[in-house]
Amino acid sequence: MSITVTPITGALGAEIGGVNVAEDLDDGTVAAIRQALLDHGVIFFRDQTLDVESHKAFTRRFGELFVHPNFQFGQENPEMVYVRREPGDAKVVGGDWHADTTMMATPPMAAILYAMEVPAVGGDTLFANQYLAYEALSDGMKRLLAPLRAVHNDSRVAGPQAGLNAQRASQIREDDAWRKTESIHPVVRSHPETGRKHLFVNRVYVHNFEGMTVAESQPLLDYLYAHAVRPEFTCRFRWRPGSIAFWDNRCVLHLAVHDNHDDARHMRRTQIA
Ligand code: SIN
Repeated sequence: MSITVTPITGALGAEIGGVNVAEDLDDGTVAAIRQALLDHGVIFFRDQTLDVESHKAFTRRFGELFVHPNFQFGQENPEMVYVRREPGDAKVVGGDWHADTTMMATPPMAAILYAMEVPAVGGDTLFANQYLAYEALSDGMKRLLAPLRAVHNDSRVAGPQAGLNAQRASQIREDDAWRKTESIHPVVRSHPETGRKHLFVNRVYVHNFEGMTVAESQPLLDYLYAHAVRPEFTCRFRWRPGSIAFWDNRCVLHLAVHDNHDDARHMRRTQIA
């Protein structure tokens, strides 16, 4: 197969053409897709037809399937996360800027989100390039951040105290047996494949800097959250049924825009360990 890679903004994101991802892809095509992901942070495919098995098979070409600890309800395919919005939902999965599942000691490297049903208007997804966010900081700020580590946990997005299930169709573990998962990650990380430095904080999972209180941490975190998603670091993807977004979860933040309250939006997601 001969693939085409067409950037959609100057910051990140590229549309990939010439590939049917449900087919048994040759190694050269898989390597070209992986390179496009590394080069552009998030890549998009159009007009694809993926059932559960072909979604898993495509994902496995890039690594092990990750099983999300908070979306487990004894379902047949534990590797699948169904991201659903129904008319009238007050909240959506991923409605704030974040990287996925960063409370894990080793967060997933990427996610592959497939659109099954999308509204005629709205429900786009935004992405933000965290290499650019880091590189735009002053030398003084880079020096300040270099030794800092941040405490990430999932208490805002799962567990009984999160209270999200009453507000949206997508359900998450809120049972009394749920326990938070917490990990500490450097605020600035080097990407394991590209070697480039990027910011690694997000407002969904981070609570404070290691060794500092929440109150002490918040002003600098708020600055970083706003800086990280400046428009010139972002792209916006407009979905159609059969579209795929495949993002590098190490160096890209994303946000599901909750701007259509009348129509259903049904997506299926895998993550790569
Ligand atoms: C997510 O955060 O993975 C969901 C993104 C989306 O539904 O657009």
